[in-house]
Amino acid sequence: MKNKEPLILVVVVFFTLLTYYLVEPFAHSHMHKHYESEGFTYKDLPKIKTGNATRGKDLVMGAGACTGCHSIKVANIPAPMDAVSSAAAYGVNPPDLSNAGAVFDAKFLGSLIKNPVHALMLGHKYNAKSGKTFPMPQFYGAGGDINQEVADMVAYLQSIAVSKDKLTPTIAFETACGRCHANHYAKWTQIGEKPVFKKKQDELAFDSKVLDYQDYLTKYLGTLPPDLSIYIRSRGEHYIKTFVENPQNYLKGTAMPRVGVNAEAADKVIEYLEDSGDAKRHQRESVGKNVMIYIIIFAIFALLWKKQVWKDLH
Ligand code: HEC
Ligand code: HEC
Repeated sequence: MKNKEPLILVVVVFFTLLTYYLVEPFAHSHMHKHYESEGFTYKDLPKIKTGNATRGKDLVMGAGACTGCHSIKVANIPAPMDAVSSAAAYGVNPPDLSNAGAVFDAKFLGSLIKNPVHALMLGHKYNAKSGKTFPMPQFYGAGGDINQEVADMVAYLQSIAVSKDKLTPTIAFETACGRCHANHYAKWTQIGEKPVFKKKQDELAFDSKVLDYQDYLTKYLGTLPPDLSIYIRSRGEHYIKTFVENPQNYLKGTAMPRVGVNAEAADKVIEYLEDSGDAKRHQRESVGKNVMIYIIIFAIFALLWKKQVWKDLH
């Protein structure tokens, strides 16, 4: 009789792969909508002019009124209020603008200054019918060419921000996500990193502030944004990236804004989430490789041994 083993092997491999395909990629694609990233290019937003950082500085501090709500720590401008009072006033603490020029796309920043609701894709929530107004006001211009003034402010924000190669995962996350999302594993709360306290009273006082902040935030957004500690594992990189690029695609009517991060900052945010949610990934990958090598060597020996045993029996 001919050797049937290769045929049996092919049949087993075929059905294993088919089952895998039906359970994973196929079922997955039917249960979840799939969106491709546009590379954080924000094609729907208009281009901006070349700006002048010196003039932009005067506008940011003056007519633009940005520092009435935002701190700019690198320019020694403190926050007008602490985080909890800000949340009481606006619903959320406006982010520090020190690195906004490095984290957010330039076109997006320009559009944000002129019309925040449009740039953030929150028109379903803030419109004439709902009567709700967004806490960050529109900039109506300082008397000159408004598009030039906007470009100047963006140029100023870019001039004070860290350079692209110095942008860290922490800066990216704190600037773009940290006012809304906690990350328990990285000790991040919406009002800042949780310090190590010597006295229990101090720790409780801090926790109580976080809870107050979260109450205001929940009222503002209609829901408390989830703690992102292990989202990288439950949702994966592709989903998080494309979700951040356009949250409305996946969750129509969601209160999560289109945040407007550029491609580099998006990668940094992912790195931050991987560091907190999957800190052992490098170790796991290298162990995985070693296990595969072991299995292959083991299989070769098993095959040789089998041949040896059957050699005299046929
Ligand atoms: C009256 C207060 C106020 C003023 C004035 C103001 N902002 Fe804001 N800004 C906010 C608040 C509140 C938020 C957070 C809103 C949210 O997350 O829903 C915000 C958010 C932002 C963000 C983050 C946007 C994002 O995509 O995550 C940037 C960048 C920003 N503001 C820049 C500016 C600049 C530049 C100016 C001046 C031209 C300015 N803001 C003026 C209150 C203000
Ligand atoms: C102004 C507040 C705000 C900011 C800033 C913000 N988010 Fe969110 N985010 C939300 C809210 C609200 C939800 C809950 C959405 C819902 O259930 O409709 C959410 C949900 C999410 C989810 C869960 C999506 C899901 O399918 O369950 C992820 C992931 C997420 N945000 C990532 C981010 C990242 C990464 C950033 C920064 C780049 C960020 N968010 C910035 C408010 C925010």
